[in-house]
Amino acid sequence: MAASPTKGIASGLLASPSGSDPSPHSGTEAHAPGSTPDDVRFMRRALALAERGAGQVAPNPKVGAVIVRDGVIVGEGWHQQFGGPHAEVHALAAAGPAAAGATAYVSLEPCNHRGKTGPCTEALIAARVSRVVCAMRDPNPVAAGGIERLRSAGIEVVTGVCASAAHMQNATFVHAVRHQVLPFVTLKLAVSIDGALAGPSRQRAWLTGPESQAAVHAMRAEADAIGVGIGTVLADDPALTVRLAPPPRVSPARVVFDRRARLPQGSLLAATARELPVHLITGVEAPAARVEALTGIGVTVHAVKELADGLRSLRLAGVRHLFVEGGAQIASALLNDGLVHHLVIFQAPVILGAGAVCAFAALPGQDATTAPRLTVLDRRGYGDDLMTRYAVSGD
Ligand SMILES: NC(=O)c1ccc[n+]([C@@H]2O[C@H](COP(=O)([O-])OP(=O)(O)OC[C@H]3O[C@@H](n4cnc5c(N)ncnc54)[C@H](OP(=O)(O)O)[C@@H]3O)[C@@H](O)[C@H]2O)c1
Repeated sequence: MAASPTKGIASGLLASPSGSDPSPHSGTEAHAPGSTPDDVRFMRRALALAERGAGQVAPNPKVGAVIVRDGVIVGEGWHQQFGGPHAEVHALAAAGPAAAGATAYVSLEPCNHRGKTGPCTEALIAARVSRVVCAMRDPNPVAAGGIERLRSAGIEVVTGVCASAAHMQNATFVHAVRHQVLPFVTLKLAVSIDGALAGPSRQRAWLTGPESQAAVHAMRAEADAIGVGIGTVLADDPALTVRLAPPPRVSPARVVFDRRARLPQGSLLAATARELPVHLITGVEAPAARVEALTGIGVTVHAVKELADGLRSLRLAGVRHLFVEGGAQIASALLNDGLVHHLVIFQAPVILGAGAVCAFAALPGQDATTAPRLTVLDRRGYGDDLMTRYAVSGD
C-alpha cells in the first residue's frame, strides 16, 4: 500500500465518542448536575446489567435498569431480546409496588414511543417513580423525548450519569442511528510486546491466551460482520465464526478484502458461503472468471474502486458494525483511509523480534512528538494479555 497522505489515524481525526467526557477506564466519570455518588454506583450496576443483552438485542441498544428505594435495589432488568420488553419494564415488574416513590436508573433515556412495546415513559409514570436517572439521551429521534415527557409528569430527571461509559457501550448503535452510509468499524489486532502480528515465518499460531480468545469471540458476537484481508485467509484459512462465546441472535457474516478475487474455492470461508454469508470486496479489475466461480458457490461480490466504497456497499447490505481482525495490510489501509472507529489491541507477553510482521508498518512514519495520541476508552487484563480499546474516529 502506498504511504499516501493519511486521512485517518495520523491526521488528528481523534476524539472521544462522548466529547470531553473522561475515559470510563479512568474511574473519574464526571458528576452530572444534580447527581450523587450513589447515582454513579447504581448507574454502573445498570450498565453491567445492560451488557447481558450483548449479541441478543442488536440493532436495538443494550439497556439496563435498576429501581432503588431508600438506598436499596428493589428491582433490576435489562433488554434481553430484540423485540422483547425494555429494561425498565423488567425492572418495574421485579420491583412491583416498591417502585412507588423510588428512583429508576436507566442506562439510556426511556423511550417515548410505541414500537414493538409500549412507551417506557408511561410505564415509569404509572409505577409512580419519583426520580429517573439516565446515562445518555436516546439518539434515535423516533424514540427520544422521554426526558421531557417524564418531567411534564412531575418526575425529577437527571441525565449524563456515567455518560461516557454508556456511549462506549452503545457506540455502534449511536453510530448506526447517526450515519446511514458507512458501518462502524472496530479493528481488533493481537500483537506482541514489539507490536507484531505474526512471526517471520507467518505460521498460524495464537499469540494471545484462551481468555483473550473468548473475549474476542464475545466481541465477534456483537458484530454484523467479521472481516479480514485476503493475506490472512491465505495464511490461516479462518472460519470467522463465534465459537467461544454464547451464540448471537444473528451470526455475523464474513468479509474478505480481496481486490483480485484470490479467495480459494476450497477455503473454509468459500466452502461455507451458503451456510453463513461471505462478502468479497474486490477491485473492479478482478478477473471475471474468478468472480463468477466464487459467485457460483454463494459468495457475494462487491466490486469497488476504493476501500470506502466497499464499506458503503457493506452498509447497504445491512452491516452496521464491521469487526476487522487484520492482517497488517488491511489494518493499515483502513486506518490510513480514516475508516476505523475503535482500535482494540490485545497485547500478548511475547517478543517476536526481527522479521516479524509489524502491525502498522504500512502506515506513514510519524515523529513521537507530533503523532496524535489516541483516547483510551477501556483497558483490562485477560489472563496474561492486556486489552486496550482506543477511540480512533469520533463520528
Ligand atoms: N495477530 C493478529 O491479530 C493477526 C490477525 C490477522 C492476521 N494475522 C497474520 O498476519 C499475516 C497476514 O497479514 P497480511 O498483512 O499479509 O495480510 P492481510 O492484511 O490479511 O491481507 C493483505 C491483502 O489484502 C488485500 N487488500 C484488499 N484491499 C486492500 C487495500 N485497500 N489495501 C491493502 N490491501 C488490500 C491485498 O491483496 P490484493 O492486493 O490481492 O487485494 C493484500 O495483499 C498472517 O501471517 C496472519 O497470520 C495476524
